[in-house]
Amino acid sequence: MKSIYIRVVVTFLGITLMSMLITFLVLRVLFSNYFVLKIQANSLYAGKQIVNYITEKQIEDINGYMESVMAVSKYKLSLYKSDLTSLNPNRSINQNDIYAVLHGSLYQSNNNVAVIGLPLSIDGESYALFADFHIESYLKNYNQIVLTALVLCLIIGSLLIFVASRYLVRPIKMLTKATKKIAAGNYHVNVQVKYKDELGILSDSFNQMVKKLRQIEQMRQEFVSNVSHEIQSPLTSILGFSTTLLQNNISDADRKRYLSIIADESERVSRLSEDLLKLASLESEHHPFNPTFFRLDEQLRRTVISTEPLWSKKKLDIDLDMQEILVNADEDQLAQVWINLLTNAIKFTPPGGRISISLTKCENKLTVRIIDTGIGIADEDALLIFQRFYKSDKARNRSQEGSGLGLAIVQKITALHQGQIDVQSQLNHGTIISVTLPDHER
Ligand SMILES: Nc1ncnc2c1ncn2[C@@H]1O[C@H](COP(=O)(O)OP(=O)(O)OP(=O)(O)O)[C@@H](O)[C@H]1O
Ligand SMILES: [Mg+2]
Repeated sequence: MKSIYIRVVVTFLGITLMSMLITFLVLRVLFSNYFVLKIQANSLYAGKQIVNYITEKQIEDINGYMESVMAVSKYKLSLYKSDLTSLNPNRSINQNDIYAVLHGSLYQSNNNVAVIGLPLSIDGESYALFADFHIESYLKNYNQIVLTALVLCLIIGSLLIFVASRYLVRPIKMLTKATKKIAAGNYHVNVQVKYKDELGILSDSFNQMVKKLRQIEQMRQEFVSNVSHEIQSPLTSILGFSTTLLQNNISDADRKRYLSIIADESERVSRLSEDLLKLASLESEHHPFNPTFFRLDEQLRRTVISTEPLWSKKKLDIDLDMQEILVNADEDQLAQVWINLLTNAIKFTPPGGRISISLTKCENKLTVRIIDTGIGIADEDALLIFQRFYKSDKARNRSQEGSGLGLAIVQKITALHQGQIDVQSQLNHGTIISVTLPDHER
């Protein structure tokens, strides 16, 4: 079946037909019994009335009286004499039953035929009066009424379901249409379903999914454009300087300068692709994570030493305040965190400034604080600096090297260690970056 609409209609019709059939059969079983009992009770009453009438009024022409009763009612009456003969015999009654009634018993049929038998005595002679109600014709009428009602129900129900199914199926059709649009790359779809039921919830979730997809698509586009931009500028200068170098009339000093620029720019591109790979790897679930126990204070000290050329060139004061602390973490990954944070502090602190690094432990938490007296971060930027490629000072970013991936990597690694990173900063005064890690006792 191609359309859900047809499926709904056919299913409904199938169910309706089935339930009608079952209803009809159940009603038949339940009510035919009911009718027989009811008619038997009526027959008994009517039989007693007839018997009373015959005996009290001492009717002479009993047969004539019975004929007239049969003419105005649905009863077939048979009067048996003591020799078991009758003018109007009833073939459904056997002789034993007639015999029993002649001897004073009351007879009541216990099947679908509503027959009652009553004894009576006329002029000292015993008779048996049988009244047989034409139940078949009665039931036939009843069946016809029930069948008509059920068929009417089916016809009206079918017409209504044809209309109602359209309403049921409409949101599904809308969702299908929207899904096709998304598959074709159009994320600007919004399914409007006013129902509050499961279909409404499904449509809400669908809209949320589309919103998320839209964001992801936007992020993807921004990412591609950022990467291209970050690659393009060093490549442009590499191309420019190498073209200049191809000319002959260049002094040795200029040649050296150009070559060193080319080397720097190449390194920048290389570092960018390295950072991108690192981020992609950290984001994948298969990134190796090898925690070991090591001295965190020593690792920080080594980082300070390895960045010595950078801070001594800017004549920065470095101040260390660290306890001896063991940490259980991935050593290589944490080393990248400190290197990134420290190079940021150095990069964004003007010459002559101060950088303090402290390591403390309290309440099962280790906290590393890197405090600088640098340019600071504006409040509106503080939350954004962890985004990939984000650099708070757009105008300055040409002069300051860096692609804006450092803090994204730091945040990813901290999260992998179930840690947390916080920024407190005051523009033009300095920045405090705190990294908190859980303290796993050995
Ligand atoms: N200590 C700091 N003082 C002032 N601004 C900072 C500091 N640390 C980070 N920032 C701001 O946050 C931005 C993002 O930092 P991030 O380390 O991610 O990138 P980057 O240092 O510019 O480049 P990369 O780290 O990739 O070389 C920086 O460009 C800078 O504007
Ligand atoms: Mg950085």
